[in-house]
Amino acid sequence: MTKKLIGAIVVLFVLGGLSAVIYVVANNKIVVGYNKDYQPTQPIPYSHELHAGTYKIDCKYCHTGTETSRHALVPSLNICMNCHMMVNPGSELIQKISAAAATNQPIAWQKVHLLPDHVKFDHAAHVNAGKDCRECHGDIEKMPVVKQVKSLSMGFCVDCHRQPENNAPTNCSTCHQ
Ligand code: HEC
Ligand code: HEC
Ligand code: HEC
Ligand code: HEC
Ligand code: HEC
Repeated sequence: MTKKLIGAIVVLFVLGGLSAVIYVVANNKIVVGYNKDYQPTQPIPYSHELHAGTYKIDCKYCHTGTETSRHALVPSLNICMNCHMMVNPGSELIQKISAAAATNQPIAWQKVHLLPDHVKFDHAAHVNAGKDCRECHGDIEKMPVVKQVKSLSMGFCVDCHRQPENNAPTNCSTCHQ
């Protein structure tokens, strides 16, 4: 074969591969959950990597409610101040937090994970069945900024419910009104 011909074949393969990739990406947009990789900037650079990773603070110390209710609570600033009265009280960031805590001003944390209204989800059912936070939220303790790493699509939920050892319901009314 001439060099030109080989060149032409290579170009065709590359173009073919590229259009396959574009096809998959375009279709995934429809099939997979919409929020994967969503990582909003938070009003205060609170780091899970530092607090839950380096200092190993238990998730449930801050996120109460995961064993008793539908939602996990995001902690109030008073919980931060349990430590930060003593830890780095002079830092500019911590002073911002303590001023807001003292006047009961809430911080406008940006929500990361959010299911559509027509879906029912309950933390307590999952956490009490022994499911780890990581199965749905990834390695939060390695994230300086929280990011949604799982699709949280219907397929993601149903795949786990179908595993025989989970003994979880799969009828539509389990997750939809
Ligand atoms: C089976 C999957 C699953 C597990 C296990 C799980 N979560 Fe969630 N989590 C979700 C989903 C789905 C949402 C979004 C819920 C919504 O929009 O109603 C969410 C939302 C949250 C939120 C935002 C507040 C809320 O409830 O909407 C926090 C905080 C949270 N999870 C923390 C945790 C922690 C901490 C654990 C472990 C103790 C945990 N989650 C275990 C799936 C899970
Ligand atoms: C159990 C104790 C504890 C709790 C609770 C806690 N922190 Fe921290 N935080 C620390 C420690 C320890 C450091 C690291 C201090 C250092 O390295 O000098 C830190 C560091 C920080 C820093 C960086 C400090 C700086 O000077 O820039 C910020 C910002 C911060 N925390 C915010 C928060 C927020 C917001 C909350 C509540 C949601 C919180 N912390 C809850 C112990 C805690
Ligand atoms: C010291 C308190 C603290 C600890 C410990 C902590 N978190 Fe958080 N978490 C927060 C705060 C504050 C936010 C809201 C700001 C943000 O998203 O970073 C948050 C946000 C989240 C969110 C996103 C909520 C949403 O809007 O969807 C998830 C999921 C989460 N945490 C899971 C965990 C898990 C899992 C652990 C343990 C590995 C953990 N957190 C440990 C304070 C904490
Ligand atoms: C890692 C596995 C796993 C994933 C992922 C998972 N589930 Fe589940 N789910 C379970 C198990 C196990 C149960 C059964 C708990 C029990 O009854 O003991 C359950 C139960 C439920 C229930 C019934 C709660 C009740 O009323 O008893 C609902 C609703 C539900 N899941 C919704 C969801 C939704 C929505 C998602 C996706 C966002 C999801 N689940 C993802 C394992 C999972
Ligand atoms: C284990 C939980 C679970 C079960 C069981 C389940 N779904 Fe879903 N479903 C979801 C979640 C989560 C979403 C939202 C995902 C998204 O929009 O990315 C969803 C979305 C949908 C949507 C909207 C799709 C869209 O594009 O917005 C329809 C329609 C639907 N489900 C129908 C059904 C039917 C019919 C069944 C029974 C055969 C069923 N679901 C069973 C969790 C479940």
